[in-house]
Amino acid sequence: MRPAARSLSYTRLMSACSGVQPARVPEPAVSSSQTTHQRLQLDPSEWYLYHTLYREARATWAERPVDRIADRIRVRPDWVVGDFGCGECLLQDKLPNKVIGIDHVAAKEGVIACDMAATSLGDESLDVSVFSLSLMGTNWPDYLKEAPRTLKPYGYLVIAEPVGRWRDDLTTLRTVIESAGFRVIGDVEQRYDFVYLTALKADT
Ligand SMILES: C[S@@+](CC[C@H](N)C(=O)[O-])C[C@H]1O[C@@H](n2cnc3c(N)ncnc32)[C@H](O)[C@@H]1O
Repeated sequence: MRPAARSLSYTRLMSACSGVQPARVPEPAVSSSQTTHQRLQLDPSEWYLYHTLYREARATWAERPVDRIADRIRVRPDWVVGDFGCGECLLQDKLPNKVIGIDHVAAKEGVIACDMAATSLGDESLDVSVFSLSLMGTNWPDYLKEAPRTLKPYGYLVIAEPVGRWRDDLTTLRTVIESAGFRVIGDVEQRYDFVYLTALKADT
């Protein structure tokens, strides 16, 4: 298992799941989330450019993972949701729940600007953690370690990823999720260009 080799820069994620021409976005070096966070704190313009192009690309998709994930969570409006790598935090608009967004840049109220490998969220403060197309950075497995710390016992983890990224290697993703302290439940679901995994924080 070599997680670093599977990390994605912003641009490569775009091309993996959207068909947007990579040449339209400046290519940052594939880097750790800490390096990316420092860079975006100094100058967030790259982040805003990325999200402008990402929004355009998203409008062409047959289904947006964030919509599907919101449909699943809507039945539990009492749940506190952590939206890890929330971008424009569309979950906040779609759900009546308390949604705490986490991203390098806080584009909205209720979003914490930080590296999601090390958040300021309290222990066991969330009912559900969402990672929608956000496992970017060479150290993406570290994000999945932060999830069980911040989730209540038996808390719920929902991950959506581009199918192209994991087509030949879903076992790696599953192994990292389980090593972080989760039990994957149900089948890995594939819809359109995305795969969905659901897990529960394992009993410790
Ligand atoms: C492709 S966008 C997805 C946005 C949204 N979740 C969605 O489904 O539309 C990925 C987001 O994850 C954020 N992200 C990736 N790694 C991060 C990290 N280590 N810390 C904070 N945000 C991160 C990026 O800045 C970006 O906004």
